[in-house]
Order: sequence, then C-alpha cells, then structure tokens
Amino acid sequence: MPGYGRVRVHTQRLTTLVITLQKNMLLLDKVPAWLSAFTLLLLTQETASTSEVMACGVAVEPLEDIEISDPGFLGYVSIHWTRPAALQNLTDCTVRYQLKYYDTYEERWRSVRTVKLTYAAQFDLEKPVKVKILTVLNCACTNGTEVQGEETEWIYTPKDTGVAGSRIRDFHCVYYGKEYMECTWESGPVQPQESQHYLYYWHREMDETKECPEYIVLSEGRRGCRFPRESLLEFSKFNLCVNGSSAAGSLKTAYFSIEVQNHVKPAVVSSVHVSETDEGLKLNWSPPSGQVPEHCLEYEVESSTTMENGQEKQERMVLQNLEDTSYGLPREVKSQKACFRIRSKVNTYCADEGFWSEWSQAKCTEDTETVPTWKYLSLVGLVVIGIAGVVILCLSLWILKKICIKKINKQDALYTLYKEKVNQTMPTILSPIFK
Ligand SMILES: *[C@@H]1O[C@H](CO)[C@@H](O)[C@H](O)[C@H]1NC(C)=O
Ligand SMILES: *[C@@H]1O[C@H](CO)[C@@H](O)[C@H](O)[C@H]1NC(C)=O
Ligand SMILES: *[C@@H]1O[C@H](CO)[C@@H](O)[C@H](O)[C@H]1NC(C)=O
Repeated sequence: MPGYGRVRVHTQRLTTLVITLQKNMLLLDKVPAWLSAFTLLLLTQETASTSEVMACGVAVEPLEDIEISDPGFLGYVSIHWTRPAALQNLTDCTVRYQLKYYDTYEERWRSVRTVKLTYAAQFDLEKPVKVKILTVLNCACTNGTEVQGEETEWIYTPKDTGVAGSRIRDFHCVYYGKEYMECTWESGPVQPQESQHYLYYWHREMDETKECPEYIVLSEGRRGCRFPRESLLEFSKFNLCVNGSSAAGSLKTAYFSIEVQNHVKPAVVSSVHVSETDEGLKLNWSPPSGQVPEHCLEYEVESSTTMENGQEKQERMVLQNLEDTSYGLPREVKSQKACFRIRSKVNTYCADEGFWSEWSQAKCTEDTETVPTWKYLSLVGLVVIGIAGVVILCLSLWILKKICIKKINKQDALYTLYKEKVNQTMPTILSPIFK
C-alpha cells in the first residue's frame, strides 16, 4: 500500500532529522549566520496557574526546557522537550505529551499526542511559531483514568530582518502538464539599488536546501524559477523562500510551503471532433499532452448554439469521472449551428486543487463533412430525379413505339411483296439478314 509506505518513510525521516539537527548544532560553522539565530532557541514561558496537578502522590509539573530548532529547511521546524524530573521515577505509567501548534498556513490549532520527546512540523517563518504542550499520565495507581498536567505555551517570533517593504509579492507556482513547474513573483514595493533575488527550495528527500535550478530573468531582474520534473516531490511539503541582497542590505525573506500536485495546469486539449449520431451530436477529443495520467483529468465542455431566431445560447458542463474522451449530447431541434470548446483540470481523485487549462480551439457542427440535413436532402433529391427520369424515359419510349409501329406496318407490306419475288433465287446463307 503506497500510503502506508509513505507514512513509514516520514517517521524514519523524522528521526534522521533529529540526528541531522544535532549534527548541525555541533557543526555551527557550517550553518549560515542567519540560521544560527534560529537554532537552539531556549524559550522561557510563564505558567498561568500555580495550582499543582497530582498523580500517585507526585506533582505533574508543567513542561520546561522546550527547544524550537530550525535545521534550515525553510519552515520545517523541530520541537524538543524533556521529561519532567518528578516523573522520572514513576512506574506503571504511560507518559505521553499532547502538543498543540498553530498551523499558520491553515490558520488553526493542530493537536498531536506522542510518547516521543520531539516533533517536527511545518511553520511559516514570517509569523510567530506558537506551541502548547502538556503531559498526559495514565497510571495503574490512577485506576485507568487520565491525568493531564498543566499546559504551557511557547511563542517564538523569528527575527524580522531586511529592508522594510522589500519582500517580494504575487508569488505563485504553476506545474505545467506535470512536466515542469514555474514559480514567479513581483518585486516588493521598495526595491533598493542593485537588488538581486535568490530562490531556495527544500523537500523531505533533500539533505539541504538548493538554489533555483533555472531562474526566469526579465529585463528588471530575476522574476521566477523553473523547476524540472525531477527536482519536485509530490504529496509532500515543498518549501520555498525568496530572499535577496541589495546595496542597502538584505531584502526581507518570503517563505512559502506548497504541495506541487495541487498546482497542475494541464496542456490544451487537442483534436476536438464533432460528429452526428442518431441521438444527436458526439464530441471526441484527445487528452492533453504531458505527464498528467488520463484518469486524473476532468473536462469542461462549453457549447455555443446559434438558434434559428439568431440568438446564441451558451452552456457549460463539467464532466467528472470521465475515463474516455468522448461525450454525446442531444441535438437542439431549433438550432442551426453548434460550436464546442473543451478544457481540462486535475480531478479531486488526484489532487485537492488545480488550474484549468486554456480552452481548446472551437469546433462547430458546420465544420464537419456529414451534416444529415444535406445528406438527406441530396438523397431525396436523387430519388426524385431518378423517378422523374424513369417516367420521362418510359413516356418517350411509348411515343416512339407508336410512331415506329406505323412505319413498320408499311415496311412489312413491301417486304412480303419483295420476298415473294426473290424467294426462289435467295441464297440460304443470306436469309438471316432479311428476317
Ligand atoms: C529517583 O530515584 C533515584 C534512585 O532510584 C533517586 O536518586 C532520585 O532522587 C529519584 N528522583 C526523584 C525525583 O525522586
Ligand atoms: C479504583 O476503582 C475501583 C473499582 O473499579 C474502586 O473500588 C476504587 O476505589 C478506585 N480507586 C481510586 C483511587 O479511584
Ligand atoms: C537566502 O536563503 C538561503 C537559504 O536559506 C541562504 O543560504 C542564503 O544565504 C540567503 N541569502 C540571502 C542573501 O539572505
């Protein structure tokens, strides 16, 4: 089961992350200066209440020594804590920790329970990192009931450095036909002299961040990055940051975290055909080129019908769960001409969202060779002409016959007369001529 495998890989990654993290702590010279500002942040907290929670005669103290460390993965931050000293000697107990953290992307609190002393989650480093944690005890001496310690809250606000107003704007990514992804941006309202932008990215299969493989450079400077398919990882956090340097100092860093499968824009649907069937019209098209699997696509058909009174009627229908690329629709009785355009998007079975492709070229019923009105008309015409021809032929034959019979009658009389005279001298070989 691929889903199960993915989860297992993820937990393995978590442990390796902790190891990498500890390495990073030791090899501080390898960590960029700005990064070490985040690393190993020991945060103090105030406890709201002073009343102690007791379990089996031991005070369940609020957690201290919480560390929030940033290994430099552009927002994938680790949280560590230690088991309270008072609980070290408790036996016949399961000690778990309930961690709540504020998901800055979805703007809501998320809750997890773990027996481990570490947890890694994605945060937007442009916003404060908020964490709440408490101890959950379940002991034999508590008779199976759960004892919750007091909650402590940590808030870590990353340093806000860089020239004010220099943060980039309008950042968005489009994964074209699952072949390559382009992320583009506009410069910030404040653009100091000699500004240069840099894009860095990271996903969980990378040991460290990498710089953009191919910048999109416009006349005003770097305004985008092009990622080949091989550099992307689907169904996983894909973290990006755009920072920069300038004569006035570093530019404000912008952080983003996306899932690339939700940014797919399929190519244009090609070779649309409209044909006539007994029931009505049938549309056929080819799926867009690119790497999007056919079962991952949904289509939208737009029809523009010109009615007999000259009015145009436009309709759109989304065709979901459609594996074959054809669609039949009843023909409008009063319509003269119908035109169709088709576009496609990744369906909800393959991604949470996506972009519509551009519309295909419009194809109309008049463009096709076999319009039945003409076919039937010409067929009826042919039959009528045929019958008329036969009637005329018969009539002329009949008239001709009438005239001929009269002449033949005269000829016959002459012939008998002649025959009587030549009968005896006529050679037998020549006789068939006179029959
Ligand atoms: C836990 O037990 C050890 C010895 O078994 C003792 O030295 C230590 O003081 C105890 N800790 C607490 C918090 O009671
Ligand atoms: C534990 O539960 C038993 C029965 O289930 C009850 O008799 C006993 O008083 C309980 N002890 C505590 C400390 O709650
Ligand atoms: C931009 O971010 C990357 C990755 O975190 C970092 O290595 C680099 O030094 C930063 N550059 C500037 C100019 O801040």
